[in-house]
Amino acid sequence: MPSTQRELHARSLADPEGFWGEAARAIDWNVPPRTVLDRSRTPFDRWFPDGELNACHNALDRHVDAGRGGEAALIYDSPVTGALCSYTWAELRDEVARLAGALQEMGVTRGDRVLVYMPMIPEAVMAMLACARIGAVHSVVFGGFAANELAVRIDDAEPVVVLSASCGIEVNRVIEYKPLLDRAIELARHEPRHCLVLQRREASATLVPDRDLDWRAAVRQAEPAACVSVPATHPLYILYTSGTTGQPKGVVHDTGGYLVALAWSMRNIYDILPGDIFWAASDVGWVVGHSYITYGPLVNGSTTVLYEGKPVGTPDAGAFWRVIAQHRVKTLFTAPTALRAVRKEDPHAKLLADYDISCLRSLFLAGERCDPETLNWAREILQLPVIDHWWQTETGWSICANCTGLGLLPVKAGSPTLPVPGYRLEVLAPDGTPRAPGELGALTIALPLPPGTFTTLWNNDERFLKAYFTTYPGHYETGDAGYVDEDGYVFVMARTDDVINVAGHRLSTGAIEEALATHPDVAECAVVGVHDELKGQIPLGLLVLKAGVTREHRAIVDEAVKRVRERIGPVAAFKTCAIVQRLPKTRSGKILRATMRAIADGESYRPPATIDEPAVLAEIEEILRQLGYGRAM
Ligand code: COA
Ligand code: AMP
Repeated sequence: MPSTQRELHARSLADPEGFWGEAARAIDWNVPPRTVLDRSRTPFDRWFPDGELNACHNALDRHVDAGRGGEAALIYDSPVTGALCSYTWAELRDEVARLAGALQEMGVTRGDRVLVYMPMIPEAVMAMLACARIGAVHSVVFGGFAANELAVRIDDAEPVVVLSASCGIEVNRVIEYKPLLDRAIELARHEPRHCLVLQRREASATLVPDRDLDWRAAVRQAEPAACVSVPATHPLYILYTSGTTGQPKGVVHDTGGYLVALAWSMRNIYDILPGDIFWAASDVGWVVGHSYITYGPLVNGSTTVLYEGKPVGTPDAGAFWRVIAQHRVKTLFTAPTALRAVRKEDPHAKLLADYDISCLRSLFLAGERCDPETLNWAREILQLPVIDHWWQTETGWSICANCTGLGLLPVKAGSPTLPVPGYRLEVLAPDGTPRAPGELGALTIALPLPPGTFTTLWNNDERFLKAYFTTYPGHYETGDAGYVDEDGYVFVMARTDDVINVAGHRLSTGAIEEALATHPDVAECAVVGVHDELKGQIPLGLLVLKAGVTREHRAIVDEAVKRVRERIGPVAAFKTCAIVQRLPKTRSGKILRATMRAIADGESYRPPATIDEPAVLAEIEEILRQLGYGRAM
């Protein structure tokens, strides 16, 4: 009898070293680890500390060496350009080896950082793997971020080289990346030695002499680089994510533990075998793109699909079904917001009838809580398991899931099912005592965290400790709140901090506030995440103007919106903003964001007893009502 998820979960907690020591056999090691887990500096726990390996070898070379060089490794499908092609393992390995050689010629060596600012094209995946090949640490920045955000990341990661492309394409709009990159380098204190720029047909970038190099020319001339063996604990990448302040957190993932966890997850969570076709319809700029467009499927020897398009509009709401049918996708992974977009345009999924998607076995959802309505709709139209699973940039893979490779568990709408092996999930009250089943509390994970999870924040061990491990000693604080029911099913309900989730993208209200505060007419401001039918949440800004400002409010609001777009990027989807006389605060000056969010969402609310001036709330209610919020009250 194969083991069930519950059995394996129990085994993984009782004997983590035995469990993960065995799982580590799924990947190739240059020096196999003798120690599985070192907890001597907890919470800086280290998995496989004396092992050595190379991530790119595991993702590419070993499949070629095993005689699979002629099979498809990556399928690139780009409805926005009309491009469609596939790379075999051997082709991808050769491209990556030459790109790695070009990086070496630009002076990149083991441990150096390389920043990747690219659209969804195969070269983005090659960029990550080329860094891994020579032991450089990549940091991918999502294309929807503005120059300012890029500059902040350049200053923190201090890359030797930036890899970029002339443009990205948003449905039918060409977004030139190079001016954004040039501006970011101008703003940053740190200056990268070189930028390697891929010229796309849709836009031609101007290269800065001496600093910028043409991607194709450099790769053509480069000698292929060999894989460099690195310790398992060597950082594979830094991925910046939103925290409570404007300074993003540089989440660091190691090499050995990460690959072991991903290899385990491909088989056991997603039920994907070598040769199967797996499609994560995300972006390389997010953690899902790192784990399940690039490393997970490739390390597992399965084909990955790279899709440069949207769920709708490229060309229609049948796009996902077309890609599944055309490439015989076995598992699709996307965000609930993408399904909501499809449902909005094609509520009865009429377009599905045009495609044979009998190859599809399951649909996985993450990035935000999947509302039961969306889950049930997808289940009904697909007649397949639709599985919500919960994870974070910090964990790199899912904390809770329905491990389909271990036998499908009953799906409960609204729940990402049970903790995955390796995660000891505990729901805690503010005083650190455990909550009973059904009681809401902070979702925490008792240490040690399993392999694959983050090892620190780049250049900032102190923030790592403070942000995640101080509130509940001995536990990792996820920042999410929720409960566990009588059957052990986990329900993730809300964030406990000022992070909001907009169309599956994680954003900091603090960062948006910082951008708004730079407007010369703004005295103070608050941003809250309010409910949105399509995107889950959207940011709503409230501004208090400086005394004596008499300009037209409409103009100030427009400038504020523009400012957020310029400083943070279009991804913030910041479009709604209003001017108020005062912000509601406690007597100690804390802005009552939760109360304003409740008003906007039409929920009943009780202002705290410490509120400074209760009358302020009446004005907020009125203004939100004028903006179309708070109707359900
Ligand atoms: N480069 C430049 N701009 C980008 C971008 C990129 N890579 N990605 C998004 N943007 C822009 C969009 O064009 C849009 O600009 P606009 O305000 O001028 O229209 C803005 O950022 C907001 O983008 P988005 O939130 O993606 O909204 P959308 O209206 O374009 O599309 C969805 C809505 C639901 C289709 C889309 O958000 C989606 O597919 N989400 C899935 C998210 C996901 O996969 N998350 C990963 C977790 S698994
Ligand atoms: P990110 O780090 O960008 O992947 O965002 C992680 C955050 O998204 C989590 O902390 C949750 O708040 C939210 N999230 C992701 N997946 C889920 C899910 N399946 N259910 C509920 N919330 C989720």
